[in-house]
Amino acid sequence: MSTPDHDRLLIIDFGSQVTQLIARRLRELNVYCEIHPFQNVTAEFLAEFSPKAVIFSGGPASVIDEGSPRPPAEVFDLGVPILGICYGQQVMMQMLGGQVKRGEGTAEFGRAYVTPADKRIDLLNGWFIEGQEQVWMSHGDHVAKIAPGFEVYGTSPNAPFAITADLERRFFAVQFHPEVHHTPNGKTLYENFVKMAGFSGDWTMGAYREQMIEKIRAQVGDKQVICALSGGVDSSVAAILIHEAVGEQLTCVFVDHGLLRKNEAEEVVGMFRENYNLKLIHADESDLFLGKLDGVSDPETKRKIIGGLFIDVFQKHADTIEGAEFLAQGTLYPDVIESVSFSGGPSVTIKSHHNVGGLPEKMGLKLVEPLRELFKDEVRALGRELGLPASFIGRHPFPGPGLAIRCPGEITREKLHILREADAVYIDQIRKHGLYDDIWQAFVAILPVRTVGVMGDGRTYDYACALRAVTSVDGMTADYYPFTHEFLGETATRIINEVRGINRVTYDITSKPPGTIEWE
Ligand code: XMP
Repeated sequence: MSTPDHDRLLIIDFGSQVTQLIARRLRELNVYCEIHPFQNVTAEFLAEFSPKAVIFSGGPASVIDEGSPRPPAEVFDLGVPILGICYGQQVMMQMLGGQVKRGEGTAEFGRAYVTPADKRIDLLNGWFIEGQEQVWMSHGDHVAKIAPGFEVYGTSPNAPFAITADLERRFFAVQFHPEVHHTPNGKTLYENFVKMAGFSGDWTMGAYREQMIEKIRAQVGDKQVICALSGGVDSSVAAILIHEAVGEQLTCVFVDHGLLRKNEAEEVVGMFRENYNLKLIHADESDLFLGKLDGVSDPETKRKIIGGLFIDVFQKHADTIEGAEFLAQGTLYPDVIESVSFSGGPSVTIKSHHNVGGLPEKMGLKLVEPLRELFKDEVRALGRELGLPASFIGRHPFPGPGLAIRCPGEITREKLHILREADAVYIDQIRKHGLYDDIWQAFVAILPVRTVGVMGDGRTYDYACALRAVTSVDGMTADYYPFTHEFLGETATRIINEVRGINRVTYDITSKPPGTIEWE
């Protein structure tokens, strides 16, 4: 657990799909919070964490069922404000002497409207200005009797106890989800809650930068740190922050596997060399990677070869750095949140993701992970704080295995060249039309088929390619981007005219699921 440098709010997760949104809303209010699954929250944990306030998330279980999730009873003795949301409300009522009943006609899913009670409370400042408030409900069970000490401050047609509070103990409980977009005034409710709890809003990127620099210095001492730099936002921000903290003790290794986009290696290496004066090894290992990939067309085999080689190559270069004891990684908070699993079963591997996992143990290195507490948009804010150019901060994600997984079938240098050129034209088009920032990720995949065309008076027999562009919030689900026909037509024409080797352009309109974002 990280040390309490700032006021901390604890979110106890009961397995809601939207628990992360609670954290997002609070972070936007400059409040530091952590999500922990209910199984891990014991009385000792509470004492150690020492929260200034606690939020109980929603969840899929029914408090009526035996063995359903509970927080430790000691949470109610901490003397700090508690906010229960949906399942969190029900668990609070059940544990404090109220009663929860099964749905039977009172289930509510979707939009609902809450009417205020006569008495107003600070939690609802800025609410009900225009009468009712729209909220988002998603519950089967409902509270039938509130616990002693509680009063009702808002009702909806199917939730007579939509907003309840015990003002003396500062316990608040709502049946709806204030964290979702469909509760438009939800952020105000969180704002009021943290204000009441006495948070000073000390969670800012400027403060974080200073604290992290101190922490990194304390952790690393006079030892050496190595960092695998990919040019992506996370590893770039991690490297710059560590460089600020320990300067010359950091060496970055940029592995060029020959599967990067047009001019990418030059851009990444140039940006770091010109702006940051940090020690950077540019390891051009494209011959090695492309050699081992020769003749390989199975997607998982490609991924395994690239992942394995990457580790070997990184290790080879890292071994040249005397006294390296630490490995820097751009791990983010969503990667470390332990999710609540009710089924307990392992999930299916769709793709073996490429990362440097396994390296630290293999090389006996300790980890420096200065972004472990941050969400992606906070990493971007930190990047801006550190002066990283806007063009780097807003870049679309690029997968570790690079163009290999955008080249279904066998990978050849010729195909990679054609793919790079087509991709550059496509991205140029997207930028020219001002669409880059509206799109989560856009790229070209070169297809393993040649098709017949006619150009001028001659026959062509060239590759077909697919354009891909998706919108997404986290890469877990995605939808295709609705380009206009004009844009698609113009882009196809440009690619065919400007890129030798392609004579047919298609647009991939598959969402995820059932597709994935990348082709392999
Ligand atoms: P898929 O294709 O699984 O991709 O829908 C989801 C997101 O993950 C990226 N991706 C990867 N990123 N190493 C990475 O660092 C990988 O091996 C990898 N495979 C896919 C993909 O670009 C998308 O943003």
